[in-house]
Amino acid sequence: MDSVRTVRLVLVGVGNLGRRFADIIAVKHEELVRRYGLDFRIVGVADSRGAAVDPDGLDGAAVCAIKEGGRSVSELLSVGRPGMTGLELIETVEADALCEASPVCLDAGAEPGLSHVRLALKKGIHVSTPNKGPIVLAYRELTALAERNGVQLRFGGTVAGGLPAIALGARDLRGATIERLDAVPNLTTGFVLERLVAGATWGEAIGEASAAGVLEGDGVWDLDGWDAVAKLAILAMAVFGQDVDLREIPRTGIREIDLDWLRDASRNGRVRLVASGERRADGGYDLRVAPTALHEEHPLGRLGGKQMGITFETDLFGTITSIIDEPTPLPSAATMLRDLLSIYLDGRC
Ligand SMILES: NC(=O)c1ccc[n+]([C@@H]2O[C@H](COP(=O)([O-])OP(=O)(O)OC[C@H]3O[C@@H](n4cnc5c(N)ncnc54)[C@H](OP(=O)(O)O)[C@@H]3O)[C@@H](O)[C@H]2O)c1
Repeated sequence: MDSVRTVRLVLVGVGNLGRRFADIIAVKHEELVRRYGLDFRIVGVADSRGAAVDPDGLDGAAVCAIKEGGRSVSELLSVGRPGMTGLELIETVEADALCEASPVCLDAGAEPGLSHVRLALKKGIHVSTPNKGPIVLAYRELTALAERNGVQLRFGGTVAGGLPAIALGARDLRGATIERLDAVPNLTTGFVLERLVAGATWGEAIGEASAAGVLEGDGVWDLDGWDAVAKLAILAMAVFGQDVDLREIPRTGIREIDLDWLRDASRNGRVRLVASGERRADGGYDLRVAPTALHEEHPLGRLGGKQMGITFETDLFGTITSIIDEPTPLPSAATMLRDLLSIYLDGRC
């Protein structure tokens, strides 16, 4: 590789995804330099308790290790900054791109993620985020802000983990008209439904989902379908170009599901919480989220318990389906690398 470009990254949020991303950057560093001429360095990192800063690049493996131990990055020797916030980090550290992986917090106006993303874009810093909150609440504002400041906003990890669902719909199906999409965009509801089909009671299935770490908080977000409508709203905005308020998308969760119907419908396929968009004659899309019986001949009708998928029906490319196995959050964490490579390599291949 003739010339190597250094890319200074700030990472805010170092949980399941952020710490794995720090590790990916460490493990893949040489390969990324060799293959793409990109020298990614994490120059600043923040969690809820503080930050760490090193203009020459932090040790990603050390960042990952301290978080796996349940501690704060601000405890990293000589580089730790106890009490420094994500906003202060973005404000003060010279960087080229922000990776924002803090919690969704839609009830709190998508904060602190929205402010992190907004500040970075205002400063002319590219952003990659798997955090749905800022995208769902402020898609138009943030994409306009990115354009005004000549930077890119990427959010490939917001829908269906590591599955490139947005890129498939928004980029790879260009030129075609999408007649319909059906997505199984999260794992949690599939996990609970599979346990119910296997004979567990509702209480047992929820308990197992909590124990397996797949259920967030009290489960309202996942079980009542809010996660799925948030992802459908992002698909609608980014793929269909349709402005939506997620509160207006018809939504049925899995909490009231009829167990007899579920077990019966699962004999020849799968029941999943499906997010759908169907094109109307006027060019708009009818959106809905509901438990749906997918016959085994449906492209998503054989999904495993750790799989998510999306199917697009189009006029030019026929039906295209993409499915991902996601037994750990690694693919979701890797979406930030994929976003960054899209930002820096676009036009090269
Ligand atoms: N987990 C998945 O499989 C997955 C898949 C796709 C998308 N996502 C999205 O990706 C984002 C991160 O998910 P995750 O599973 O990694 O979450 P997580 O494990 O809960 O980690 C969240 C991180 O954000 C930090 N944080 C919380 N408040 C903060 C604040 N005010 N300022 C700075 N940092 C703050 C936390 O700090 P502490 O470490 O100090 O607690 C933690 O490091 C979420 O928006 C999630 O919806 C997750």
